[in-house]
Amino acid sequence: MTKQVALHVVILAAGKGTRMKSSRPKVLHELAGRPLIEHVLKTVDGLRADSVTAVIGHGADDVRSALASRTSLQFAVQSPQLGTGHALLQAEPVLKGKSGTVLLLYADVPLLQTGTLARLIDHHRGTRAAATVLTTNLAEPYGYGRILRDSAGRISRIVEERDASAAERLLTEINSGIYCFDLAPLFDALHRLASDNAQGEYYLTDLIGAYRQRGLSVETLLLQSAEELRGVNSRIDLAELGRVLRERKNRELMLAGATLEDPASTSVDADVTIGSDSVIGPGVILEGRTSIGERCRIHAGCRLTNTSVGNDVVVLDHCVLVDSTIAADARIGPFSHLRPASVVGEGAHVGNFVELKKTTLGRKSKANHLAYLGDATIGENVNVGAGTITCNYDGVSKHPTIIEDGAFIGSDSQLIAPVRIGAGAYVAAGSSITRDVPADALGVARAHQENKPGWATKRRARQVKGNS
Ligand code: UD1
Ligand code: CA
Repeated sequence: MTKQVALHVVILAAGKGTRMKSSRPKVLHELAGRPLIEHVLKTVDGLRADSVTAVIGHGADDVRSALASRTSLQFAVQSPQLGTGHALLQAEPVLKGKSGTVLLLYADVPLLQTGTLARLIDHHRGTRAAATVLTTNLAEPYGYGRILRDSAGRISRIVEERDASAAERLLTEINSGIYCFDLAPLFDALHRLASDNAQGEYYLTDLIGAYRQRGLSVETLLLQSAEELRGVNSRIDLAELGRVLRERKNRELMLAGATLEDPASTSVDADVTIGSDSVIGPGVILEGRTSIGERCRIHAGCRLTNTSVGNDVVVLDHCVLVDSTIAADARIGPFSHLRPASVVGEGAHVGNFVELKKTTLGRKSKANHLAYLGDATIGENVNVGAGTITCNYDGVSKHPTIIEDGAFIGSDSQLIAPVRIGAGAYVAAGSSITRDVPADALGVARAHQENKPGWATKRRARQVKGNS
């Protein structure tokens, strides 16, 4: 078996992102529910690289902790930031003594696809080049480095906008900033870069001219569409790229068998899954790690965040569901609010203006109208009447409410926690329950009613006298 050539990925993520006008590092701004850099890392995952190194600088600690779950990711810190050439140089300690191909990426270019990078790597290796530059043509190339070619049509060097002559600025082939390098000559050449340019920076782009002068072969790969190469510099870019990603995701979902009634108003984060024959209404937002089962209906205007929904579930209009789990055949909404750690059992119903927090509503149980159920564990086949409130907070701590299987909670009851309603018990409507209700008992806790016969007639008579 021939030995595979190693692949080492380096992702530049040290820049400040001044135009974001933000205290947050640019690469941690979210796009379709993931930090920018996470999009790039996900794309790289598909390449099965031997090492992945992020060069960080601005907000380095924040970036590191945001990526803590990626245990095999290595970091190199660039401080101060003296240019793209200097940035790549910071990866030298990680790559010392290694050989193979270096793929250089930017953390703020999130639309790139794994297949495009694989093509770049193949082209680079197939031509045995020392460097390969990914390029594209732009009708408006302003701001980008331009590709200069010799009389034979080969790339001779790259010139930055600020250092370019008027004639060079007319060139439309631009440097994407994405490259493959053969590791062997790379760091030696990076050490020799100078910073005698308009920005006083160590330009990685100068490596190309230097290679050509030394007779090392440099290749280019021209991308027909520039869309994948779009970077994020401002919040306007963030919004525009967000739209591109949403469209991509929506198409993917529809091709996989979900109906989106109005894709233009539907926003689905990158990591969301939807089972086949589910129907998503207009204005629905599905965020984070939300998953929807098969044959569900999520009606207009709902927001689901990190929520798992089983098969055949109906969520009526305008619900907000966060960090919750909904089992098959359940029915939610309209206007329900599931706050974190809520669990709705199979076939259970949560109706309008019902709020759940850290609460389990068991199989086939119903809370159909106007209720607050917090820190509650509710069994199966329980009926929670309209206006029921678990008083879970005494101003200092939170207390649990337990309602066992088959219990019936009459309307407008307050269950003052900690409290337990036994299996099959009844709570009379309008009760303020402060003590446990045993199984199969009736708990009544409300003032006795007194009727005064003829009281109203007498009152009216008094009023007539007073007015005359
Ligand atoms: C760079 C290229 C330009 C190319 C363009 C494509 C150079 C000199 N120029 O220009 O030819 O057309 O990208 O977008 O390389 N970064 C660091 N440390 C630094 C400087 C930059 O990590 O010291 C990172 C930035 O965070 C960013 C990326 O490198 O993600 C590109 O830097 P940027 O300053 O935006 O380069 P451009 O001027 O756009
Ligand atoms: Ca840039």
